[in-house]
Amino acid sequence: MPQKLHITIIQDNDTKNKAYIDLVKHYHDIKLVDVNSVSHDDIMRSAVIIVQVDLNDPNSISPLKDIMALPERCHIPTFFLLREFSRREVVQANTLGATDYIVYPCPNHIFIQTLEDLINKTVEKAWSKLTEVQEEALKVCLKVVEKTFHNASKGLEVSQKEVKDSCKLIVEATAKDGLNDWMDAIRQHHNSTYRHSMMVCGYLVSFGMLIGIKKTDLQTLAVGGMIHDIGKAAIPLEILEKPSELTCSERKIMEQHPVDSRIILANAKWDEMLIDIAVHHHENLDGSGYPDGLKGNQISDIVRAASIANVFTDLTDKRSYKPAMTAEKAIETMLAMGNQLDIDLIKAFRPVVLTGES
Ligand SMILES: [Fe+2]
Ligand SMILES: [Fe+2]
Repeated sequence: MPQKLHITIIQDNDTKNKAYIDLVKHYHDIKLVDVNSVSHDDIMRSAVIIVQVDLNDPNSISPLKDIMALPERCHIPTFFLLREFSRREVVQANTLGATDYIVYPCPNHIFIQTLEDLINKTVEKAWSKLTEVQEEALKVCLKVVEKTFHNASKGLEVSQKEVKDSCKLIVEATAKDGLNDWMDAIRQHHNSTYRHSMMVCGYLVSFGMLIGIKKTDLQTLAVGGMIHDIGKAAIPLEILEKPSELTCSERKIMEQHPVDSRIILANAKWDEMLIDIAVHHHENLDGSGYPDGLKGNQISDIVRAASIANVFTDLTDKRSYKPAMTAEKAIETMLAMGNQLDIDLIKAFRPVVLTGES
């Protein structure tokens, strides 16, 4: 079984056979919700949705229609459990927007295999949209990110050259074929640290392109994004991958990662600008950040840009303990953070993530 995902199961009162719930729970995190009380958050935090309602009952179909029509839902694979293989139920499921369906009850192994196929198909679909250049860049970068974090966690040297070379591929792929499909494929990656690092990298490259900086600077932004959280390689996995919110003491350990980044990168003699990004992307303009409590002009422009890409990626990424925010809401939240982030820079960043603005 590959990755552990957050799955929302939507049911109605009438549903009798629910044995599959324990089965799914064995592999994934689940949340059960009644079809009449599904919240926006329930949808936004789901990697997959399972629907088990009476498709002949208007009281269930009506709220389900609204849920299925949500724009955010359209990107989430939705698996319908039918009570019988009848034309009526199949047509109803398809009309509502089912990604796949199965007649339930069915043997456990068939149920779980169909569910996993659906999950894998979603990943494959995202990758299938990539051009050859984008696919090559993504494959190489994921390997390099994995190796870099692995080496850092084992106290081995992290190669600046290797990361720079892989980032050159991203810059070239983005210049040639754009970044949207590339980012969609990254969004499907199961490892949250790698996914986060690559997305910050992607947003920084897009941002750099939008404001028209030169190619070598784009590469610096890409490298900075990719390794900005390298210090997380030193954080215990039970904290780093905790499927719920961190306690106060765990948060303190987590906030050590910029200091660890400094040690890891300085030991390997990385460029100062890249160390600056990795060490200071959690500093705030009002001095409330960490680790050094820098203020205003003490924070460089490239670090300010990295902070914005970092916060935006955090807010819009879904985890089992928090839903993903929409891009609009994330920008609004960032603008309301007072004097922590560079407001002018957020406004300049906005067209990177909101279509129709430039
Ligand atoms: Fe960080
Ligand atoms: Fe980060």
